[in-house]
Amino acid sequence: MIGLFDSGVGGMSVFREVARLLPQHGYVYYSDNANCPYGDKSPDFIAGRAREITSLLLSKGCKAIVVACNTATAAAIKQLRQEFHGVPFVGMEPALKPAAASTRSGVVGVLATAATLRSEKYLDGKRKYGTGVRILERVGRGFVELVESGELTGQDAESVVSASVAPLVEGGADTIVLGCTHYPFLMDLIRKVAGPGVEVLDPAPSAARHLIYLMVQHGLLDERSATQALSRIGTGAQVPRNPKVELLSSGDPAALMRFFSLVTEHA
Ligand code: DGL
Repeated sequence: MIGLFDSGVGGMSVFREVARLLPQHGYVYYSDNANCPYGDKSPDFIAGRAREITSLLLSKGCKAIVVACNTATAAAIKQLRQEFHGVPFVGMEPALKPAAASTRSGVVGVLATAATLRSEKYLDGKRKYGTGVRILERVGRGFVELVESGELTGQDAESVVSASVAPLVEGGADTIVLGCTHYPFLMDLIRKVAGPGVEVLDPAPSAARHLIYLMVQHGLLDERSATQALSRIGTGAQVPRNPKVELLSSGDPAALMRFFSLVTEHA
């Protein structure tokens, strides 16, 4: 089984990509929505939650863990890898490298939580991959709240999205990196506000690919199944209608149920 967790339903955008490639696999998804959003919490608090949730997922039989949250990855993945030695972890990081390679204007916009943008991990990535391009950063202010409440369309949601996205476009960004797993659920509005000349990058598909490679390395997936999984990329493969998944949440499970239906019925 594969375990995934996030502060809420955002990680469902990652589950969607993983389940497309490994439709027969079993999953446990944990939404820590009693503590959502993580974006304004301290790194210590987030790391503590990440440890507890990882222990729970491992106790349920998960053999690989996807930290389906950029904020938790930034705060905790290093400690998780040390503490749970031998367990393969996949984390989420803003896709600065492909963005820097593909921008034509030389300006890359990054949308992420405040905690991610001030983390050492993000700043390291920026030093490594951000040379030669201008990086504009914005917190997607109010985005997580919109997604958790299921408000993905409409005028009010568009105004919230516009307040963070428009300044990136006005600053010359032709590539926008989504650095929070909640944000892909607002993709239609982000694209609408950004306009047709702007590419918006969701790192979930490459995280799913990385998981396949790690599982092979750890003997959790044989070469044949991995080749089959990777051959589904770009084929429009669907999330199965009834995937084997246990859904857990620390708060009201309603939002998680709603997003589970969204990704399994409209993938
Ligand atoms: N979905 C999360 C992320 O990828 C966390 C958002 C939040 O709880 O603030 O950063």
